Amino acid sequence: MIKNRQFGSVLQLEMGKEINGRVLYSMAAYFVDGILFDTGPYSVTGEARGFFPSLAVEKVVNTHHHEDHIGNNYLLAEQGIPIFAHQKAVPLIEDPSQWTGRLLDYQKLVWEYPPPSPCLPLGEYFQSRHHTFRVIHTPGHSLDHICLLEEEQGWLFSGDLFLGEKVKQLRSDEDIHQSIQSLQYLLQYKFDTIFCCSGRVFEDGWHKMQAKLNWWQEIYQQVINMKDRDLTDEDIRDQLLGEENILAQVTEGDLAKMNLIRSFLALRR
Ligand SMILES: [Fe+2]
Repeated sequence: MIKNRQFGSVLQLEMGKEINGRVLYSMAAYFVDGILFDTGPYSVTGEARGFFPSLAVEKVVNTHHHEDHIGNNYLLAEQGIPIFAHQKAVPLIEDPSQWTGRLLDYQKLVWEYPPPSPCLPLGEYFQSRHHTFRVIHTPGHSLDHICLLEEEQGWLFSGDLFLGEKVKQLRSDEDIHQSIQSLQYLLQYKFDTIFCCSGRVFEDGWHKMQAKLNWWQEIYQQVINMKDRDLTDEDIRDQLLGEENILAQVTEGDLAKMNLIRSFLALRR
């Protein structure tokens, strides 16, 4: 499934595989002024092949190397369209076999393996015909993650960094301390609208980002206090975030509340 929605001059492309009439774990790419931010998972490549030519894409930017963001790069590369990402993402996008051996069953089912594509490193700024985007390295969700900020319009293309104010689950390979630093760094800039790869677009984005940072810092303090009282990781999770739900089960623990607790405690072990 590829579903379009217009937000002013920004077009959102919600992309996800349909199984038995249900769309599983969709993501959102964005298109504005000739630039395609992320290309979606390979599992929708048939539709993407038919749809992308109608966009007149001039350049592609990947917010990070995850398989749901780079899966259709190869379609654009076939047309000679250049693909850009953070320098740390370049080798991972050019040769996904370096990391796709670690994909779990749910990732292979809903997103599938991304084909390799050529990729160029981004500088500090990125230019489209009418806009200048500041490239901001925001590691945490992944080491190579970037956000793109259009300061005149107040747009922030936030990849998988934001997702929501109170997200209780974390991927097993995420580093919450890096994410907190990335939020603090990002909040030095001004922005209004967050275009999130979850498919949600947030107005008043700067304050929502600040609220996310505050919530993580509060939870961190509580985790530390509870650990000092010798509570187990499971008890801390249950008291602060509640028990795991179906998401942890389906993803073999890859998206789980426990990952958030353990990432908070990683510096203390
Ligand atoms: Fe991601």
